Amino acid sequence: MNHFNMHRKDFIVSACKGCLVAGGLGSILASCTSTRYVSSHLEKDGLTVNKEEFKINQKGAVAFRSFIIIRNESLKYPICIYRFNETEYAALWMQCSHQGAELQASGDYLHCPAHGSEFNSKGLVTNGPADESLRSFPVTINPTTIFIDLRKQS
Ligand code: FES
Repeated sequence: MNHFNMHRKDFIVSACKGCLVAGGLGSILASCTSTRYVSSHLEKDGLTVNKEEFKINQKGAVAFRSFIIIRNESLKYPICIYRFNETEYAALWMQCSHQGAELQASGDYLHCPAHGSEFNSKGLVTNGPADESLRSFPVTINPTTIFIDLRKQS
């Protein structure tokens, strides 16, 4: 079964032309202080995220979060973006491939609260009962932003 043939309209709930700026959740409601929830621009073909969102302000040193979570009211599920280095990112759809529960990000893995499946930062199953990888989206790296192409997935 090809689990990845989800059409864009299946996860874009609505996208009114005049309000394509995401919800602006900022960093509220973070139960874990290392988790950063960010807003993003939802454009015609995908999401643009400022690379600065990964930076952690530390005096005299630049550090980076390993992941951030994009929540957008137009998306049915959040997207977790893992940063591996300056040129390598992974954008994962946070819907469990087992029965569709919303995943929780925990460091370098994603956990499903429904039946305990776990996925690594590339979206691969590391613990069942899920037996399929998470949906992921191509990421284009620009000088100051990254673009997540919601038209394509793997
Ligand atoms: S829905 Fe995630 S493990 Fe069952």
